[in-house]
Formats: sequence, structure tokens, C-alpha cells
Amino acid sequence: MKTNPGGQLAPDEVVGRDRLIAKLWRILERQSLVLTAERRIGKTSIIKKMTAQPQFGMRVFFRDVEALRTPLEFVNCVFEDVWADLSRKQQTMKRVRIFFEQVSGGEALGVKLPQTVAPHWKTLLTKTIEDLAEQQAGLIVFCWDEMPMMLDNIKRDQSESLAMEVLDVLRSLRQMIPNLRMVFTGSIGLHHVIARLKETGYANSPINDMFVEDVAPLALIDACDLAEKLLRGEQIRVVDERVLAQAIAEAVDCFPFYIHHVVDALKWTDEPQTADLVAKIVQMSLCDDANRWDLAHFRVRINTYYSAVEQPLVLGILDELAATGTPLLLRELLERLNLQQVVSEPEAEAEAVRKLLDLLRRDHYIVQQPDSTYRFKFGLIQRYWQLRGL
Ligand SMILES: Nc1ncnc2c1ncn2[C@@H]1O[C@H](COP(=O)(O)OP(=O)(O)OP(=O)(O)O)[C@@H](O)[C@H]1O
Ligand SMILES: [Mg+2]
Repeated sequence: MKTNPGGQLAPDEVVGRDRLIAKLWRILERQSLVLTAERRIGKTSIIKKMTAQPQFGMRVFFRDVEALRTPLEFVNCVFEDVWADLSRKQQTMKRVRIFFEQVSGGEALGVKLPQTVAPHWKTLLTKTIEDLAEQQAGLIVFCWDEMPMMLDNIKRDQSESLAMEVLDVLRSLRQMIPNLRMVFTGSIGLHHVIARLKETGYANSPINDMFVEDVAPLALIDACDLAEKLLRGEQIRVVDERVLAQAIAEAVDCFPFYIHHVVDALKWTDEPQTADLVAKIVQMSLCDDANRWDLAHFRVRINTYYSAVEQPLVLGILDELAATGTPLLLRELLERLNLQQVVSEPEAEAEAVRKLLDLLRRDHYIVQQPDSTYRFKFGLIQRYWQLRGL
């Protein structure tokens, strides 16, 4: 297998996700799914593999919706997918056609919905899915990759209320059509988008019927397997392939994306390919100006998703947790943050930090351990954060 950091993988190149995929299919039998995880963990690869290898009798659609900016663009994607699917089976979209003729002023229904029908996007979406559901007895699964990004786009370009309406319509469709499932994936947390909508009066819980699954990096055994396959595929000759593969997997916390990168770097070097060289590659990549490991977003997105008031506190928390050799209790963290100038009330101070710690957990920066201490979730990201602060 060849290295391909960040590229599209063929289903058989997606290493070590079979058990997770089997679990996701079982969840989908009963409800819809939200797949969350840190960036570059392999969410898209997982759902693309599921789309390519659906369970018997299911119809699975995949769409990257990141670039969509209006509800009509979104409905168009769904419509195109359903149109293509039903046309292949020589089936028609009766409900959509009848409704379209009523609202389009005589225009014939084509593969693209015209802008003139934009005000009717909700009905068109509903009728599209109803037409499909009528002709598909098994489960229908729509995988929408980067859904939070699309909602954020709609919110920014259009309005908060339109983004809310999209979430509400999708929820009501899930409730109306028993064999319909949705999979939302994305690297920005849906909770940020929904939290902001709530600030503007949105009271619903639009995804509380969906199962939230957090995707972890690969298990060590699978990460070693991936590293070995890549070493072999790139014909990198070493004394003990297994030992080097394990050194690579452990050096990058079993993130498959970084495993691809390390083997890729090994491929181009003339130095002896040892665990020491792996450590050197990782170290250099953590400070890479070209940001090939895509780590800069850990810093950048704090400005996007945390308010101006929260940002200094968030950065302070992460700096302290990065610097410490041992995980910290809330009390210890508060001592180190030395917040007296910012907040005069000690309880308010603790509450503000607690709230941000919760958000940082949901954003996969940190974890709280069973003994209540907090630490960075991934050692690699902690080292990146330390190096930025030096
Ligand atoms: N299971 C896997 N086996 C082999 N390589 C993988 C696997 N998962 C991810 N990768 C590697 O990591 C890269 C990123 O994976 P992917 O695009 O699926 O992640 P993602 O979580 O969707 O990222 P983002 O949050 O940026 O959308 C892939 O191009 C590939 O190099
Ligand atoms: Mg992705």
C-alpha cells in the first residue's frame, strides 16, 4: 500500500475500521448517527467505505456538503442523488414532479432545481425523500460529510433562522419516515453551531434523536498494521519492519494521517531508517512552517468558535495543561491560571473555567480522567501546543 496522506482512500486501504463500521451499521438499524472526532482521524474514510460497501438491502448516499451555502443547494444535492438512483432503476419522482409543476410556472423538471423554486425548498426536500422511501423498502442512509460547516455557511450567508429550519426539517423527516437514516460528520462540533443558534432563541434539540459516536484514532495493533503495510508498499527496507512500524504508530498516537506522513518522509530520506529518525521527523513536523500535518487549526479555530472574552482563558487553560507533566485538578488549574484580575468572585471564576473545560473536552483537546484531573487528549497535540508556546 502506498502512502497517501490526506488523499482519497479506496475502501480496502481503510485499515482497522471494520469493528467500528460493524458497530455503526448496528446503530443505523435503529437510529441516525453523528460521527465526531478530531480533524484528520479518518471520519470521511469510514463513511466512504460504508457507502461503497453497504449492508444488504440498504441504499447509502454520500455527499460532502462543506461548500454548500443555501438550503436550495443542499436540496439540490439530495434531489440529484435520488434522481440518479431512481432513474437507474427506471423509477420516477411522482410527488416532486407534481409539486414542481405547481410552483415552477410551467418549467419542466430537470436534474437541477432552478432558483425560482428556492422558497419551496422544504417541501421539495420532503417530497424527494418521500418519493425515494416509497420505492426503497430497506434502510435509506444519507451520509452528509461536514454538515456543521454547511449549517455555519447558511447561518453566516443567509440567516440563523434558516440554519435552524434545516435542522428542524431534517429532524422531522427522520421522525416521519421510519426507514430513513442520516449520518452527520464534521470536524467542527455541531454543538458550536447549535449553541450559537440557541443564543438567538432556538429552543429545539435538533439532534437528540441521533446517536453520537466519537471516532478514536486506530487501535495500536491496527496502527502498526497500517505502518507496516505502508513501509512494505513503499519498499522501505529496514532490519525489523515490525519494530519500526510500532515506533511510528506510537510516535503519532496512532493517528492514521500522521502514519502516512511519517512513512512518506522516510521514503525520501537517505538517513538510516530507525526509531530515532521517526522521532526526528515527528519533531520537525510539529514545527513545520508549511503546516503539512494540518496542526495550525488547533490554534486558529479557537478564534472562530470561542468568544473574544473566552479566548484568553481558553488559551491559558491549554498553555497550562500543555506545560504540566502531570494532569491537573480544577483547583490546581485555577491556582496556576491566577485569575484574580479577570474575575473577582472565586465561584464565578471556577464556573467560567469549568464551562470552558467542558467545551474543550467536546472539542477533543482535553479529557477528564476518572480521578477528575484534566489532561490533553493526545500527547502529540500537547507537544505541538508546547512547542508553539516556547
Ligand atoms: N483507516 C485508515 N487507514 C489508512 N489511512 C487512513 C485511515 N483513516 C485515515 N487515513 C489517512 O488519514 C487521511 C485523512 O483521513 P480522512 O479524510 O478520512 O479524515 P477526516 O477525519 O475526515 O478529516 P477532516 O476532519 O479533515 O475531514 C487520509 O487521507 C489517509 O491518509
Ligand atoms: Mg473529512
